[in-house]
Amino acid sequence: MRIAVFGTGMVGQTLAARLAELGHEVTVGTRDPASSLARTEPDQRGMPGFGAWAQAHPDIGVAAYGEAARDAELVVNATSGEGALEALEEAVADLDGTVVLDVSNPLEFSGGFPPLLSVCNDDSLGEELQRAYPQARVVKSLNTMNASVMADPTSVGGGDHSAFLSGDDAEAKEIVRELLTQLGHRDVIDLGDITTARGVEMWLPLWVRLAGTLGTASFQLKIVR
Ligand SMILES: NC(=O)c1ccc[n+]([C@@H]2O[C@H](COP(=O)([O-])OP(=O)(O)OC[C@H]3O[C@@H](n4cnc5c(N)ncnc54)[C@H](OP(=O)(O)O)[C@@H]3O)[C@@H](O)[C@H]2O)c1
Repeated sequence: MRIAVFGTGMVGQTLAARLAELGHEVTVGTRDPASSLARTEPDQRGMPGFGAWAQAHPDIGVAAYGEAARDAELVVNATSGEGALEALEEAVADLDGTVVLDVSNPLEFSGGFPPLLSVCNDDSLGEELQRAYPQARVVKSLNTMNASVMADPTSVGGGDHSAFLSGDDAEAKEIVRELLTQLGHRDVIDLGDITTARGVEMWLPLWVRLAGTLGTASFQLKIVR
């Protein structure tokens, strides 16, 4: 599949590399390709500077959001919560029927740590994106787990845990389910329409506190039933 991965952070790098490894044709979208490629020093989380990462992945294209989305069958939104609407706006001309796998979270760090949710309770970032771009088929998924678990579910509990799907379009959810299966996710629960993104986004305040308490981001939700 032709996939555009929006965002050059930890999630963008990790998912783009894994999706390319699985045989997909991947282009990473970024606000400013030249300045992103000029970043060669590791960030504070130890992720390689995007330029160094791109050099190590010559098979993966790098382009501005709009160009990356052109001809893409699926866009992965791995931008920051505050940047998501703006990033998709740049690609608006190319979102007609496009599946948007939205892994972003509406985390708001302006007041420091722990972050707040910029939208919650009766709305969600997934819904905001779907409302703003009705021509896209938004599917919220993978936002409940760390980037390395998204790309390699076996890295926690041998892969025995659960992922979720939220979205209005049944076919788009099946496309995302297939992609998750390729990544190795075995228990993928369809929660229902895009309003169910509220619940998975509101898990983040607990996720953030668990990461602090456990001293690791390598953990996952398992729905036992
Ligand atoms: N880190 C994780 O393990 C994890 C797990 C689950 C969900 N998530 C969610 O996935 C998304 C990506 O997380 P991340 O940790 O990879 O990176 P991040 O630091 O949240 O930022 C991701 C990218 O967003 C892009 N961006 C676009 N518009 C922006 C704006 N106005 N302000 C700031 N950045 C903007 C930037 O890419 P360019 O500069 O290249 O445009 C940046 O590299 C987030 O929404 C996060 O909440 C993360």
